[in-house]
Amino acid sequence: MSSRLETNRRRFLKYLAASPVFAGAANAYAVGGGLSPTDASPFSFEEGDLRIWDEELRNTAIKSPAEALDLFDLELAARRAQAPAHWGFMATGTDSNATLKANRADFQKVGLVPRRMKGPIAVDTALKTTLFGEQYDSPIFTCPAGPPTMFDKNGNEALSKATYATNNMQMLSIFGLENAAKATGGRIPWAQWYSQPDNEVNFKAFKKAEDVGAKVLVLTIDIIGLRKVETFERLRRSDGRKCIECHDTPLGGNPGTSAILAMKHDYDWDYIRRVKDNTKMKVVLKGIMAPEDGALAVKHGVDGVFVSNHGGRSEDFGVSTISMLPEVVKAVNGKATVFLDGGIRRGVDVCKALAMGANAVGIGRPWFWGLGSFGEAGVRRVYELLRTETMFGLHQAGAATVKDLSSISIRRIKA
Ligand SMILES: Cc1cc2nc3c(=O)[nH]c(=O)nc-3n(C[C@H](O)[C@H](O)[C@H](O)COP(=O)(O)O)c2cc1C
Repeated sequence: MSSRLETNRRRFLKYLAASPVFAGAANAYAVGGGLSPTDASPFSFEEGDLRIWDEELRNTAIKSPAEALDLFDLELAARRAQAPAHWGFMATGTDSNATLKANRADFQKVGLVPRRMKGPIAVDTALKTTLFGEQYDSPIFTCPAGPPTMFDKNGNEALSKATYATNNMQMLSIFGLENAAKATGGRIPWAQWYSQPDNEVNFKAFKKAEDVGAKVLVLTIDIIGLRKVETFERLRRSDGRKCIECHDTPLGGNPGTSAILAMKHDYDWDYIRRVKDNTKMKVVLKGIMAPEDGALAVKHGVDGVFVSNHGGRSEDFGVSTISMLPEVVKAVNGKATVFLDGGIRRGVDVCKALAMGANAVGIGRPWFWGLGSFGEAGVRRVYELLRTETMFGLHQAGAATVKDLSSISIRRIKA
């Protein structure tokens, strides 16, 4: 065993011994054993820095949102507050988590080449972003994911309130639109939908979204078959509580399986044409990875191409969203708005994605971290931190506003 591995192993054992989760401290959950350092890594804190291993640092987890210096401080605080099974459902990717990890790791493989002498910078307007005619305070938006109530009993309202209080955009399941509008004094998220086999059901849902006032339909197309969520399964096994303590019915197997089985599995471009014919909303396809599909989406009149692999939760092939972005942007050729998510954890990630051609970027797990640590205030802090980091990043790159990022070049960093 290498000395580094040995050190990590020792740290891990020390961590286990001290962990409230394992030691049964007041707010902790009893667990079974069977974890090894390698098993642990997929559900460790994403950045894998010393904060997880060092007991002293771990015990200084922040007590208020204002103390968070970056999103990982919120991740740590949320991890301490949440039960293993719920945490595992949020954190898991698919199989080995290769895609989940690649989404993050590949951001580190590109750098921006800063320009100097670029004249004045904007501050108040630096991040203003217009998407399908509506202006938001940043190009960062809240991805559809759930359930937020897993981390906070008022999670649905808290998430919408925090997103719109900071004037950002939210994508949300059609089922939640009305409540979001109530919580936010009338702001209507973009309407996300998992298509069903019966088109009548789909078209009725689109009509409902339109009646609520939604202007944009987001069709998630990247969950075609079932998936194996090992990280979730491991953490659930380590959770001493019974599912019935949180859920109406005891949960068996992989949650979401019955919903996935009930979904549409025979997507084709003819379906997209029919969707376009049956809604007045703009149509965004969430889950495009191949440039060929980006080009076909444009050919079939799609308004938005969303480069996403469901945060590494659909396939485990290890192709990251940021690595595919340039090819998809080229294929779309300016004929649709391009969105990206997967692994956005810092403002510089936002800068990189925009410099590489995205118009806006989504966050999934980071808002869970905010919600799971400090509720609505935690999500607001996520947005605050990302906004600040993005603005500092783009100014330092030589861009006055987000729009100017497209003229900043990138370099691939060799591993
Ligand atoms: C717990 C969880 C649940 C999710 N549920 C949905 C969903 O219902 N619909 C959907 O389109 N995407 C869903 N996603 C994917 C997110 O919308 C988004 O694509 C992904 O989280 C972005 O990657 P990130 O977590 O690295 O930011 C979910 C993601 C997570 C983590």
